Amino acid sequence: MKLVTVVGARPQFIKAAALSRVIEKDPCVEELIINTGQHFDASMSKVFFDQLGIRPAAYDLGIHSLSHGAMTGRMLEAVESVLLSEKPDCLLVYGDTNSTIAGALAAKKLHIPVAHVEAGLRSFNSKMPEEVNRVLTDHLSDWLFCPTEASVKNLEKEGITGKERVRLVGDVMYDVSRYYSRKSSVPLIEGQYVLCTLHRAENTESPQRLKAIVSALNQLSKCYKIVLPLHPRTRKKMDSTGLQFEFETLAPADYMQMINYLSYCEFVLTDSGGVQKEAYFFSKPCLTMRDETEWVELLDEGVNQLVGADEKRICQAALSVKSGDYDFSSRLYGSGDAASKILESLLK
Ligand code: UD1
Repeated sequence: MKLVTVVGARPQFIKAAALSRVIEKDPCVEELIINTGQHFDASMSKVFFDQLGIRPAAYDLGIHSLSHGAMTGRMLEAVESVLLSEKPDCLLVYGDTNSTIAGALAAKKLHIPVAHVEAGLRSFNSKMPEEVNRVLTDHLSDWLFCPTEASVKNLEKEGITGKERVRLVGDVMYDVSRYYSRKSSVPLIEGQYVLCTLHRAENTESPQRLKAIVSALNQLSKCYKIVLPLHPRTRKKMDSTGLQFEFETLAPADYMQMINYLSYCEFVLTDSGGVQKEAYFFSKPCLTMRDETEWVELLDEGVNQLVGADEKRICQAALSVKSGDYDFSSRLYGSGDAASKILESLLK
C-alpha cells in the first residue's frame, strides 16, 4: 500500500510521528510525506522531525504566511501535482488546519481515498477556521478515525456513519505522549509554575480578547511563575499591538521540553486543543482560554474549565485551581494504540 501523508503545522508533526513509527515496522506500506510548510520556523517544524524520528518529507512545499484562501489554494494545487505523479492508494490527513483541508480536497477530486485522523471534533463555532476545515474534511473523507466517543456522535448527527467508514480508535497524541514520557526525567524549570500557551486566531486576532488575556497573565505572574513558550503568531501580534508581558516568555518549546514542562507544572492555562489533552495525559488540571472546546469529555470529567478571554474569570479560576480535587483515572483517549488500529484498518 502506498500512502501519502500531508502535514504542515506543529501539532500534525506530533500526530504523524505516532503513525510513522508503526508504518516503519510494516514492510507492506510505503509512506511519502508532503510537508506543506505552513509552519516554517525551525522551532515549529524541523525540530519535531528530528526529535520524533519522522521520516524526512519527500516534498517540501514551502507555502506559508498567506491569507487563508491563498494559502489553502496554493497547497491544493501543489498537493494535486504530487498526487498526480505519485498515484498513492490513500491520502492521510490530520486534524483541522489549512493543510488538512487542502490535502483532503486535492485527493478527493482525483478519486484517491482520504483517511482523516482526529475526525469528528466540533467546537460548533463556525467562525473558527479550524471548524470549517474539520467539517469539510470529515465530509470528504472515506475513512474517519475518531479519538473520542463524542466525536463519533458528532459525525452521526451529520449523517456520517458506518462501521467501515467511522472507527473509534483513541487519540494518536496519547500514543506519542506515552512513548516519550518514559524518557523525561529531571525538571527543566525549577520550582512551582503554571504552564501557559496562547496562539488561537480567535484570541490573537481580537484586540479586546488579547488585551484581556495579557492583563490576566500579567496579574497572575505576581502570584505564580508563568512558563509561556510563545507561538510566533502571538509574538508578532504583541509587537504590532504594543501589548507587553510583565514576565519573561520563552521561545516555542520542542516536544521533549513541552512534555517536561507538562510533567512538572502545577496546572495548565491554554487555548490550544492539543495541550488541553496533554494536560490530562499528565494528570494536570487545565483552564481553557476559549468559549468552547472540542474536548467536551474533559469538561464532563471536571478536569478542564472554560474561562474564555475574561480577565476576571481567568484570574479567579487560576487562583482557586490548586485547592480542587481532580480525578484523571478514566481512560478518555484510548489505550495508546490508536496508530496501530489506524494502520490495521487502512490495510484492510
Ligand atoms: C495553525 C492552525 C491551528 C493549529 C495551529 C498550531 C489553521 C487555520 N490553523 O494555526 O489549527 O492549532 O496551527 O500551531 O491551519 N508563523 C511563523 N512561524 C511559524 C509558523 C507560523 O512566523 O513557524 C506565523 C505565520 O506566518 C502567520 C502566523 O504565524 O503569520 C499564523 O500561522 P498559521 O499557520 O496561519 O496559523 P497558526 O496560528 O499556527
